[in-house]
Amino acid sequence: MLKKFVDPLSIMETIHPTCLMQHKPYYEVTMQETFQKLHRDLPPTKVWGYNGQYPGPTFHVQRHQPVHVLWKNELPRHHFLPIDTTVHGAEKSNPEVRTVVHLHGGVTPDTSDGYPEAWFTRDFEKAGPYFTNKMYTYPNHQPATNLWYHDHAMGITRLNIYAGLAGMYVVHDHEEARLNLPSEPYDIPLIIQDRSFHEDGSLFYPSEPDQPVTVPHPPVVPEFFGDTILVNGKVWPYFNVEPRRYRFRILNGSNTRFYQLSLSNGTPFIQIGTDQGLLETPIRVPSLVLAPAERADVIVDFSNCEGQSIVMRNAFITQGEKPDPETTGSVMQFRVSKPLTCPDTSSIPAHLSSVPKLTHYQRTRTLKLNMRKDSYGRDIHLLDDRLWSDPVTETPKLGQTEIWNLVNVTEATHPIHLHLVRFQILDRQPFDRKRFEDHGEIVAAGPRVLPELNERGWKDTVRARAGEVTRIIMPFGPYPGLYVWHCHILEHEDYEMMRPYVVIR
Ligand code: C2O
Ligand code: CU
Ligand code: CU
Repeated sequence: MLKKFVDPLSIMETIHPTCLMQHKPYYEVTMQETFQKLHRDLPPTKVWGYNGQYPGPTFHVQRHQPVHVLWKNELPRHHFLPIDTTVHGAEKSNPEVRTVVHLHGGVTPDTSDGYPEAWFTRDFEKAGPYFTNKMYTYPNHQPATNLWYHDHAMGITRLNIYAGLAGMYVVHDHEEARLNLPSEPYDIPLIIQDRSFHEDGSLFYPSEPDQPVTVPHPPVVPEFFGDTILVNGKVWPYFNVEPRRYRFRILNGSNTRFYQLSLSNGTPFIQIGTDQGLLETPIRVPSLVLAPAERADVIVDFSNCEGQSIVMRNAFITQGEKPDPETTGSVMQFRVSKPLTCPDTSSIPAHLSSVPKLTHYQRTRTLKLNMRKDSYGRDIHLLDDRLWSDPVTETPKLGQTEIWNLVNVTEATHPIHLHLVRFQILDRQPFDRKRFEDHGEIVAAGPRVLPELNERGWKDTVRARAGEVTRIIMPFGPYPGLYVWHCHILEHEDYEMMRPYVVIR
């Protein structure tokens, strides 16, 4: 077992534009294979990184300042992780290594959104059927928040992200700058991911079926849980901090694993933001649940913790078990060992931002999250019982607001994400499972429960729990076009729990 808290936390470097193009910052990012030290006692691990870094460099952009990014692929032609060629988009007839970059949570025109079938290969030699342009433009007309960019290639997203293709993208604005929140160097992104390793340091990803049935080899697995937790690409790191307030922009960048984070000395997180920006008021949370792709912007006040070593723990029950504090129950360690370099003049204002409640809407859709068997007898997760290749059924009109009732008839929580839009969670309500199984009817079996206090802001990913109807409300726009919505458990997303949708004029 790898020793915990022996590597210092690393902080991703900030990427700078190479030049201005039509007065806009222009960035170039190259996906490359590289070997990186992920733990003191592990030989360097083969990873795929943006600009050869895992996680990729952090973007810092200003609201209303559009940027161009040229994403280039210089990866090898063969994948080092097991591809299931029976998965849609990953067929033998397609190149093995395909990439396309999505800015998660970005309000982006569809030609720059990273549609899964707009993939391209090394040096743009080959491209998917929906590929239109090499250079992407991000308008950045959205409030300050923490986005992330990651690979989204059809049928192999789980493998490409697992290989290392993910990074942070921070939007700044004046409204937030005025708040006097802790700022650099006390403002730190934390990307939490789980991984497993072979003895030689290489990444382990299952390539054997876990079911005693005849399935393709290697198979797509229904979920993946690593036995080791990494933060910013280091296994169980430690971080030396000063006795003052820090801002942590936390992202769950894992394939399947959910986290329930807390600090071992009982210090609460003061949550100030969600996926899509600032909350109205700071919320004190003793523990913080994050599903894959969810973000939490938090302040932690170490000012009364001088000399302490504090472990960030994870208590999320996974596969029916509480995580072992010796392994996946630990995330990282904070050592309040540094002297105060200057007085902490930051503040946490009582009012952060306004989040006007959405009430008016033009249309409601009821969409099931369900399961079926594939032709090999494997479980296949679906959105409203439809495959990726079925005709588009969700066609909201540009500028209209809709409520989506996500009816989860499966056994698991699914973090549902829509591209382009931000939404508010209205409520969650249990339904009568038996009635559904017998008659296919959705009948309430309890009251509607409002979202948690720290979910009452703008979101782009929502936990839709089993046996519940989760209602979300969102205006569609400001761009028309072809987008996707999906479960963000990457093993589900890759294997049919993703659907195209079109915002029509
Ligand atoms: Cu985080 Cu469709 O993506
Ligand atoms: Cu997205
Ligand atoms: Cu799912």
